[in-house]
Amino acid sequence: MATPHINSKEGDFAKTVLMPGDPLRAKFIAENFLENAVLVNNVRGVNGYTGYYKGKRVSVMASGMGQPSIGIYSYELYKFFGVENIIRVGSCGSFHKDLHVRDIIIAMGACTNGNYASQYRLPGTFSPIADYDLTQKAVNACKERGVKYMVGNILSSDTFYDDANSGMEWAKMGVLGVEMESAALYCNAARLGKKALCICTVSDSFLYPEENTTAEERQNSFTTMMEIALEIAE
Ligand code: HPA
Repeated sequence: MATPHINSKEGDFAKTVLMPGDPLRAKFIAENFLENAVLVNNVRGVNGYTGYYKGKRVSVMASGMGQPSIGIYSYELYKFFGVENIIRVGSCGSFHKDLHVRDIIIAMGACTNGNYASQYRLPGTFSPIADYDLTQKAVNACKERGVKYMVGNILSSDTFYDDANSGMEWAKMGVLGVEMESAALYCNAARLGKKALCICTVSDSFLYPEENTTAEERQNSFTTMMEIALEIAE
């Protein structure tokens, strides 16, 4: 049953997997939010855990950074381990005037400067979108908590350090922020008939570079995002 990147058995993963970028954050979620969490993968230090949140069986595993990396992990989870829902819980840069550090973006769509979707050989441009049901549940969970959020398009960029210093061009099309993974995740979900959503906490703003948070403040806002993702896990 093991795949090239996941050394687990059938049934080791729950139907829903929370997917932060960082393996240490996956460990943090397992240790602080899940009961009876067991380690189900440790290939390349990409630890995957399955445990219980309020009685619900849930898994958490990191994606690594970038579309190639989340492309691998989400494909194997969906295709070979019976996973139905992947909820990415990440950080992003924002270029929207109403978004500040610690606010939440619910990524309804994901633009990209990458070519992940070219593998499908479509006679046009594919629009990677989130699952509507998960999106609606995330919106409701934010409203219930009084969390500041926006729903919209994001950019999944293949570059963090970009020679043209780009990013802001996307703002004129109403794109809210930039991260590096969601478009590939949404493509895999579409191709395999599964569900995906990306929730991001704004970690930096292109418009308000002076906004600084302490590590503790950042941790608290990430905690809110984890709770929202765990609440909506099916
Ligand atoms: N670019 C890409 N990914 C990111 C950023 C960014 O500015 N901030 C957090 N994730």
